[in-house]
Amino acid sequence: MTSEADKGAGPRHVAIIMDGNGRWAQSRGRPRLFGHHAGAKRVRQIVEACPDLGVKYLTIFAFSTENWKRTQVEVAGLMGLFRRYISKEARALKDEGVRVRFIGDRVRLDDKLVSLMDELELLTCENEKVHLTIALNYGGRDEVSRATKRLAQDVAAGRLDPADVDEETLPRYLDTCVLPDPDLVIRTSGEARISNFLLWQSAYAEYEFIDTLWPDFSPEIFAGLVGNYGKRDRRFGGVVA
Ligand code: FPP
Repeated sequence: MTSEADKGAGPRHVAIIMDGNGRWAQSRGRPRLFGHHAGAKRVRQIVEACPDLGVKYLTIFAFSTENWKRTQVEVAGLMGLFRRYISKEARALKDEGVRVRFIGDRVRLDDKLVSLMDELELLTCENEKVHLTIALNYGGRDEVSRATKRLAQDVAAGRLDPADVDEETLPRYLDTCVLPDPDLVIRTSGEARISNFLLWQSAYAEYEFIDTLWPDFSPEIFAGLVGNYGKRDRRFGGVVA
């Protein structure tokens, strides 16, 4: 656990709710998908900025379990964008030392997209420079429900004793089981809510809610927020000595 002694250190794991693509496009008189395309371009720049900022883990919210409520045109456009993004960026991500993982429920995603996701995870599985996790059809409550189901199955099968269940148990069943908890969660576009993102994992994260719309989120803004984090005291419920 981080303590007062870590003040000044940057965040090892940053999670981002990339919001504001639709408004960014609409303010230019363009369709919402135009904003999502601009948002996708930003992703690469932010991933590339991570090593210099000391950010080892970056987790981005690309599509939530609630986003299916959008129009069929927008959902189909986003799914097409994810397929193209993975196909187009795979080689660069591999060459740049980025390990990509996906979290979320794959059951509702189309087969073509799921195989591209599997291939990208496999292609980059030996990389260690930056760990990029893309949340796709992800919801924190859905994740905890799926994890609880598997935990209950282990109890029913006699593999897990209920008496042994503690705070360390559930995280082993979460999609994020191999990742550290986020230190800093950023949300763009002026909304101050967490929208079902990394609910368990962000219990002690620091938050930054900023007005910038995601397509305008530059590496310089990112660096500024990472710098601010270093000035915060993280006490995890304790007191400063
Ligand atoms: C929220 O903005 C954004 C999304 C639901 C999609 C996020 C997707 C991307 C940034 C692009 C692709 C990402 C990858 C990994 C390729 P919004 O549409 O809710 O914006 P609004 O609040 O202004 O309507």
